[in-house]
Amino acid sequence: MCKKNHYEMTFIKYLSIDYMSKIFKHFKFLNKIHNYGIIIWRNEVIKMQIPNLKEAKIRTKKDPKTFNYEIKEELKEIGKNKKYFIKTYGCQMNEHDTENIKAILEEMSFEEVDTMEKADLVLLNTCAIRENAHNKVFGMVGRIKHLKQEKPNLLVGMCGCMVQEEVVASEILNRYKWLDIVFGTHNIYDLPNILKKAIDEKKLQFEVYSYEGDIIENMPAKRDSKYKAWVNIMYGCDKFCTYCIVPYTRGKQRSRKKEEIINEVISLRNEGYKEVTLLGQNVNAYGKDFDEECGMNDLLRDVADTGIERVRFVTSHPWDFTDEMIDIIATHDNVMPYIHLPLQSGSDRILKLMGRRYTKDEYITLFNKIKEKVPNASITTDIIVGFPGETEEDFKDTLDVVNTCKYDSAFTFIFSPREGTPAAKMEDNITKEEKEQRLYKLNELVNKYAKEKNNALIGKVVPVLLENVSAKDDKMLAGYTDTMKLVNVKSQKDKIGKIVNVKITEAKTWSLDGEIV
Ligand code: SAH
Ligand code: SF4
Ligand code: F3S
Repeated sequence: MCKKNHYEMTFIKYLSIDYMSKIFKHFKFLNKIHNYGIIIWRNEVIKMQIPNLKEAKIRTKKDPKTFNYEIKEELKEIGKNKKYFIKTYGCQMNEHDTENIKAILEEMSFEEVDTMEKADLVLLNTCAIRENAHNKVFGMVGRIKHLKQEKPNLLVGMCGCMVQEEVVASEILNRYKWLDIVFGTHNIYDLPNILKKAIDEKKLQFEVYSYEGDIIENMPAKRDSKYKAWVNIMYGCDKFCTYCIVPYTRGKQRSRKKEEIINEVISLRNEGYKEVTLLGQNVNAYGKDFDEECGMNDLLRDVADTGIERVRFVTSHPWDFTDEMIDIIATHDNVMPYIHLPLQSGSDRILKLMGRRYTKDEYITLFNKIKEKVPNASITTDIIVGFPGETEEDFKDTLDVVNTCKYDSAFTFIFSPREGTPAAKMEDNITKEEKEQRLYKLNELVNKYAKEKNNALIGKVVPVLLENVSAKDDKMLAGYTDTMKLVNVKSQKDKIGKIVNVKITEAKTWSLDGEIV
């Protein structure tokens, strides 16, 4: 059965006999515009647009539309005397989206609380990257349902990457019709209107669109930190690595204009921010979607020239990493010597199946070039084990790269098939136990090198931006080195927000201890 019919069948379950004649009429319509579904809720036919993987994959040459976020005056009081709680799953981009959502809600007079029990509005900002995120979110939705039963006026919403998935959209419309708002990654700016409609109409507002996406400027942000800030430099991704759902959930690569980014960084610097992290799924491809010549090297140089104390960027796809970029990191003291350079696999055969477009040798050559020009750089990576058909030999190639690069740290994952991606259809004959064993072996190696790198810092003096009270001891402050290592130091709270020199006294696998000198 094709996808379209699958949805039509899914929704038919919700149509009572009384509506059958109407449905028939609707179905003709559905055949033409196949990403519409209908459900019956409180005796009413609701026509809903649902996300569609085929459409999410389309990439046209059209420039994205850019517009400014605005909130209507009459929506600014909606949240008066009401509280909201938001939980974020996912990457830095999702975290930054949450910062935008919080600010929008506060423009509507909602007030943030730290538990869902205290809230009048609960929002889950979801991630679709692996199956376990999916399970966690639906587990939480189950808990919230109980809360809503006790508190019928509670507004509950889901947003983020998961709801952009066709399968999840269908699951929501099948089993979670009691939700109040569901919106995707492309229409966060529309939250005030969506929420107003949910309150007025007292029924689910399902607003998720599969399209290439726009650029929204002027979005407010309630930032988690007063000292370091995320700055989006681009949205979406056009790389379509065969295992990855992101190009479908986040749309086409859309770079923000350099002037907008620079203005944001200057405002942050003027507000006292010490550090910015330039955000994108593939920041090295920044500007490739512009007509004029403006690449990541131009942007990075100009951001560094604003004089902000620390500049970072994530994530760097090895494919687009240029020599000019390395030179800028090497020659600008405020561009931090820290690079996250995802490997994914060390096997040429698997890299090809993944669509990563580099070989093991090309990756190592790039790695060495960075180390040569930026000798103090710390380099971290992402690795997937158990990609369909990964042999023991392929896995050994991955271990071989880890032994060559001796990463400062690595995020390691077991391959998780994402419906609609090419890799989900590839034959996978590796058992779960084999995959788990490989992950275990890989982690042992990664941890060994992480500890070695940290040990080498004992006795050295490193700059640390102290950010907050340490999670392990309230008499200590925690912060990160230029090379992105977590350090705990004994200090008075007045040092929070300052970059201080710290002598490292003790090294662990995941963190360092030190004293201010
Ligand atoms: N844009 C970044 C990666 C973003 S996703 C890049 O290309 O480097 C973060 C990491 O999640 C990826 O690097 C990858 O290692 C992992 N990942 C993505 N899809 C996955 C999947 N289907 N199964 C397991 N891990 C996955
Ligand atoms: Fe996913 Fe690849 Fe894009 Fe990274 S570059 S977001 S792994 S498709
Ligand atoms: Fe997850 Fe979406 Fe980020 S899938 S990793 S929240 S881009």
